[in-house]
Amino acid sequence: MSTEQCDNPLHADYYADGSVHCTVEVVENVEVAQDTWRIRFRCPEMASLCKPGQFIMLKITGRDDPLIGRPLAVFDITPDENQVPTDLDAVYLVKGNLTTRLVNVAAGQHLDVWGPLGNGFLPQPTRHLVMVAGGIGQTPFVTLAREYLGLANYGRECPQAESVTLCYGARNADLLAGVDSFESISGLDIKLCTDDGSRGHHGLVTEVLEQVLADDKQIHGSNDGVRVVCCGPEPMMEAVAGVSRQWQVPCQVSLETPMACGIGICFTCVTKVIQEDGAWDYKRTCVEGPVFDAEKIVWH
Ligand SMILES: Cc1cc2nc3c(=O)[nH]c(=O)nc-3n(C[C@H](O)[C@H](O)[C@H](O)COP(=O)(O)OP(=O)(O)OC[C@H]3O[C@@H](n4cnc5c(N)ncnc54)[C@H](O)[C@@H]3O)c2cc1C
Ligand code: FES
Repeated sequence: MSTEQCDNPLHADYYADGSVHCTVEVVENVEVAQDTWRIRFRCPEMASLCKPGQFIMLKITGRDDPLIGRPLAVFDITPDENQVPTDLDAVYLVKGNLTTRLVNVAAGQHLDVWGPLGNGFLPQPTRHLVMVAGGIGQTPFVTLAREYLGLANYGRECPQAESVTLCYGARNADLLAGVDSFESISGLDIKLCTDDGSRGHHGLVTEVLEQVLADDKQIHGSNDGVRVVCCGPEPMMEAVAGVSRQWQVPCQVSLETPMACGIGICFTCVTKVIQEDGAWDYKRTCVEGPVFDAEKIVWH
């Protein structure tokens, strides 16, 4: 970072200085669950920069509707036969303007993509990493699980965890997306749940989390070394933050606030974050997040 950048109070640690903006070719675009698709595109330059929990901004090349890109988490990073990262996957829920059009994009068509963006999950010593996902919130966790299990290296050192658990909940079985990607990760403990009981535990993902924390405490005598990371709808993240507080386990949340620019300029994406002096201030989720300490978020 240059002196000029350090002197600028708006220059966040994760400003998009190291990001790239490119037009990429779609490799495949397939439905993986109800209203949920996985799109893969070739972008070796960006793929080699991506860290778990970072996101990209994406729009369809040549289309002005929507005019601005939309943020999607990096779901997976695929290497070529020489283990050089070449392709990126995003998994998206069909929701509005971009995603309803994205389902019609076929292999060979092009996207405008800029990234990687945001802080992502920083490597931290962890005995047991518990990843808690709700709805489409599982998307940042494939690469994170691989990294903490020592199965992939994303260009940085990451302390290995003794165990990694995914607690993943959705309204029903049809909406659980990308489960096969998680099942392909050797050593990952997967606990699914659904609101209607159609797959896994019949109930809330917070109930599954409490059971995981209770089992961990019973085996190890305490929850020391456990860390929760969470992504999903905001009420669910607030509830997961509450359970983590109750069990005295640190928790980080990856926020999905709407974004316009993705690079720190427009302040569309602000969220209230408690500062060192105890007062809250607005932080830009795109360049100061999307991952925040759950205890620092003002939820309402
Ligand atoms: C860091 C980050 C990572 C993310 N990762 C993912 C991911 O991996 N996968 C994923 O699926 N999503 C992800 N999201 C969320 C995703 O970016 C949004 O859902 C995005 O808005 C979808 O774009 P869209 O154009 O399809 O929907 P939009 O058109 O932007 O609509 C989004 C929502 O607003 C509502 N809406 C739209 N227009 C109106 C209107 N006129 N009045 C009222 N409501 C309206 C829609 O019903 C919908 O609920 C992420 C968000 C962030 C910030
Ligand atoms: S989306 Fe523009 S500042 Fe964050």
